Amino acid sequence: MTAQKPDDALKTRLEKHGQAHALQWFDNLNADESRRLRQQLEQLDFDRLDRFRTLLKTPPTNMSFEDVKPAPVRRLPLTDRQRKFESRVTELGRDTLAADRTAALTVAGGQGTRLGYDHPKGMYPISPLRNKSLFGLFAEQILAARRRYGCRMPWLVMTSHTNDEETREFFGAQGFFGLGEETVHFFVQGTNPILDAEGRLLRAERDELLVGPDGHGGVFAALSRSGLLDRLRQGGWDLISYFQVDNPLVTVADPRFLGHHVNMNADFSCKVVPKREPSEGLGLAVLKTGRPTVIEYIDVPEKVAGERLPSGKLRYQFGSIAIHLMDVPFAERVANLDSSLPWHIAEKTYRIVDDAGRKVESPPGGCRKFEQFVFEALPHAQECAFVEVRREAEFAPVKNAEGDDSPATARRLMQRLWFEWLQKAGADVEMPKDFSEPLIEISPLYAADEEELAQKTEADWQPSFPLLLEP
Ligand code: UTP
Repeated sequence: MTAQKPDDALKTRLEKHGQAHALQWFDNLNADESRRLRQQLEQLDFDRLDRFRTLLKTPPTNMSFEDVKPAPVRRLPLTDRQRKFESRVTELGRDTLAADRTAALTVAGGQGTRLGYDHPKGMYPISPLRNKSLFGLFAEQILAARRRYGCRMPWLVMTSHTNDEETREFFGAQGFFGLGEETVHFFVQGTNPILDAEGRLLRAERDELLVGPDGHGGVFAALSRSGLLDRLRQGGWDLISYFQVDNPLVTVADPRFLGHHVNMNADFSCKVVPKREPSEGLGLAVLKTGRPTVIEYIDVPEKVAGERLPSGKLRYQFGSIAIHLMDVPFAERVANLDSSLPWHIAEKTYRIVDDAGRKVESPPGGCRKFEQFVFEALPHAQECAFVEVRREAEFAPVKNAEGDDSPATARRLMQRLWFEWLQKAGADVEMPKDFSEPLIEISPLYAADEEELAQKTEADWQPSFPLLLEP
């Protein structure tokens, strides 16, 4: 069979949109290969491609900070009065969980290049003693929440075109962690072509365009496309607990967070922590022209990030840890916006096939990936609860293979937290200085928080280590 050249219509489109170089790729392809490539080219969204090309040529503009103010934040309580208020809010959150309105949603479509793990990141064995995967830990939290609050809590997992199959197989092999297959819903996020610095299409294989996932902000379109928003509505779930696959310390069913969200009639909420230093890479929680907004840290000039109050505290103190609550109608509204959320460009390095048909490494950072960010939906919210949480209790990002934000730091943080729980429960233990040997693990099915652990333990308990607490 001979190669199939693109027909005239496709040829004209490619030429019109500055992608004529793709026509040369057909010269050395056989019939099957050329059919594959042609189909992909025909399915391209050329308008979006044009937007990306324009974006590449547009010099970045500095964001104005004149209309920016620090966001109001629901702080951690310090006084008795504040503690009382927080317990009332938390009670409201418990009632909300018991009312069975909440679904869990994990975004797990990222490429995880920094971690360099050869499988979907959610499969990474993270827990210190049992080597439970990230997915496994979240599953146990969901199961624990279902039991505790008597709710159904479905789990929505966003995957990508490259990791969807392996993710589903993993859940299957793990028996869906006892959750019930029918309660776990995978949906695949969209992709965009990855371009070179001039905005030209690239190939991953001789017969395949180089494409990448469209960012965690793709969650809105993907949810809507998959029909899951309809299913949520039909099932009576109007709240989504959103979290990233890379944070083993996330609390999936957090009554305090839910309580604030519901109490404020918010439609998109955001957990925040005080930044450690001005340059820390957390998005800033602010009001911009009066609208709740998270500004990506690279868009914040040093002067603004470092501004201090007379007390010495940072003026823009709070950063987002990418844990959100959103209402289903809000997600629907964002999915149906006339103009899409902004596109961001990441400079990446990929293996590509060059014009001569050879597989080569792209120039370092020479590929342009286009992504949307979930927090950019925030200005479309009517109300947002920015809720302060304890960083040590809720944030252990697994980004890199070693060093900061790595599995080692996450395991240390998990163990420190569990030791704190033991201490608060009255156990006679000292916080170890070093966690180089795994010492402790508490399954969410044994205790999902410090109160639950306290209920199950005797004061003056002297546990021996390594200590594994599971049902
Ligand atoms: P990151 O921003 O850390 O990106 O994702 P990443 O692709 O996983 O990792 P690197 O940059 O290649 O090392 C934060 C969260 O958003 C999800 C990730 O799976 C992670 O939970 N994400 C990111 C998506 O679901 N889709 C995307 O397109 C990007």
